Amino acid sequence: MKEMNRNTLLIHGGIPIDEKTGAVNIPIYQTSTYKQDGLGKNRGYEYSRTGNPTREALEALIRDLEGGEAGFAFGSGMAATTAVLSLFRSGDKILISSNVYGGTFRVLNQVFDRFGMSYGIADTSDLSKFEAAITEDVKAVMIESPANPLMTVTDIRKISEAAHKRGLTVIVDNTFMTPYLQRPLQLGADIVVHSATKYLGGHSDLVAGLAVVKDKETAERLAFLQNATGGVLGPFDSFLLIKGIKTLGVRMDRHVENAAYIAEKLQEMSAVKRIYYPGLKEDPGYETNRSQAEAAGAMISFELEEEYDIHAFLEGLKLVMLAESLGGVESLICHPSSMTHASIPEDIRREVGITEGLLRLSVGIEDKEDILSDIVNAIRNSRRQGK
Ligand SMILES: Cc1ncc(COP(=O)(O)O)c(C=O)c1O
Repeated sequence: MKEMNRNTLLIHGGIPIDEKTGAVNIPIYQTSTYKQDGLGKNRGYEYSRTGNPTREALEALIRDLEGGEAGFAFGSGMAATTAVLSLFRSGDKILISSNVYGGTFRVLNQVFDRFGMSYGIADTSDLSKFEAAITEDVKAVMIESPANPLMTVTDIRKISEAAHKRGLTVIVDNTFMTPYLQRPLQLGADIVVHSATKYLGGHSDLVAGLAVVKDKETAERLAFLQNATGGVLGPFDSFLLIKGIKTLGVRMDRHVENAAYIAEKLQEMSAVKRIYYPGLKEDPGYETNRSQAEAAGAMISFELEEEYDIHAFLEGLKLVMLAESLGGVESLICHPSSMTHASIPEDIRREVGITEGLLRLSVGIEDKEDILSDIVNAIRNSRRQGK
């Protein structure tokens, strides 16, 4: 059979059926251990931290979707990132894009720093600024494109080329795009990580992380780290995640359609001071994003003009929910400076442009007119008296 197209791969990739029974859904192998037939005689499994058939099916699926050598499933996106960063050692420096998820910053700034690793912040959307930030001790660059929360787009091909010339490993957090819209390993990256809690799961009902690596040697090292540090995903959540991934294509198509519509409408509103969405032609990342991704995703950030009170706006929303997280079927909104990015010190937040007025919208798959009218009404009602 010729290579499957992405919508087919979502459903038939990895290990699509249970070999033993033919079940079209991989069963939830809810077991911690496996009977051995004698010393050194097992049936491929010994203990579920090391291997579990439900988790394995998920790992094979994300491997196929990202087009890598091996996939790994973890108990959260941060556990996946932590395992990947554990590939490095004391004295190594990791460069991160100037706006990344606050937890990625925090684990480098408050955990890995205690083990002698350091980090630097680089504007990876600008090749010369990225190259200028590479010092002897830099061993990897970790990119998000579009980045959380300012939707800054990084040219993954160009950064990978420049990074490889200097011997750096390129890690891409592909949470916002998913392999349905963007496949970083095919663009030159070495490792992909996901908060699968978001679009891959898609229903705000689980917390999970995934990683995919391109080469055999890194695959062996990450398999060792996954087992040694133990942050694995359980069988039930692995099952839920496989189920979520099957509908990723239809969900993403609707997310993107809705987001493009909402972004255009927000851009036309005088109450909106700034909007960040790489699907808009005016966005600085528009062309680069088009060159490497199928679409611009469904995350939009924006700021309201001063005469609008953001507390009143957020409290006035009836459909769109104020909540951490993103990528579920329901529209969610958050205030990055006090929520998702609160772990980044204020001076750094200010420097990279995460202002007190910034709002981040995860556009869901509800009817787009309902999402729009909820936002428009809440904006109107949040105008300060006398302004
Ligand atoms: C881009 C990105 N990466 C990683 C994470 C961390 O994932 P998790 O919350 O599943 O640990 C998040 C969470 O919000 C995220 O938005």
